Amino acid sequence: MDRYAQKRIIRKLDLELFVASLQPQPNPQVHLEQYTTPEDIVANLLYIAAYTRDDILGRSVLDLGCGTGRLGLGAAFLGAAEVVGVDIDPVAIKVAQRNTQKTALSDCVHWVNGDIAAVQGRFDTVVQNPPFGVQRRCADQAFLIKALEVAHRVYSIHNHPQVDASLLRLLKASGGVIQVLPSPFLVGFITKCGGGVTAVYSMLMTIPKMFTFHQKLKHTFVIDLYIIEKQTM
Ligand SMILES: C[S@@+](CC[C@H](N)C(=O)[O-])C[C@H]1O[C@@H](n2cnc3c(N)ncnc32)[C@H](O)[C@@H]1O
Repeated sequence: MDRYAQKRIIRKLDLELFVASLQPQPNPQVHLEQYTTPEDIVANLLYIAAYTRDDILGRSVLDLGCGTGRLGLGAAFLGAAEVVGVDIDPVAIKVAQRNTQKTALSDCVHWVNGDIAAVQGRFDTVVQNPPFGVQRRCADQAFLIKALEVAHRVYSIHNHPQVDASLLRLLKASGGVIQVLPSPFLVGFITKCGGGVTAVYSMLMTIPKMFTFHQKLKHTFVIDLYIIEKQTM
């Protein structure tokens, strides 16, 4: 029987532990916004994609800006049929390859060093945590354009536009994930790219101090997971 032919529910904790065992970006570069997605965020994204939308098991999954391969390897761990990850940074791709060798998933995972602009083909699902555009304005837009060019379902992480005290209170009280309204700006952009926003989930993301301009040992901020579907004509 195929590895993924039988539906199997993997515990979220096991997924988080698997992702946490992977080596992170050894030398993050500021201009590429190379922070490693924390394992709880990876697990939330993949769990929603796999078990509420059926977009992972047996699917072809493209990880755009894959870094060290956390989202892509997590998708393979949950039972994706095929995973392709693309990143512009050769060091990140080398680490992703090393991470893959430590797993039993090498047969279905492929890493490519290159710009996402060069990606061609068709995939069932895109998973991505693009640069937010803090260093280069609108850097996430090229990722949305490419994702909707090659796939019907897209799971994309973006910066939450305006965080207020009530949102933080709700997030803390809810255990870290709540459904929110999409940003009108992103809805407009996604519509222009031929997509529609199905749902948006806000989550608290905590990353360790990585760059010299970070002033605290840990930085917690709010991100939004956009679930996007390509609209058929
Ligand atoms: C926020 S990091 C996320 C890394 C990884 N997906 C993770 O979850 O840990 C964004 C990634 O996008 C990559 N990147 C930025 N611009 C890119 C481009 N034009 N083409 C391919 N990768 C790019 C960076 O090298 C970086 O690894």
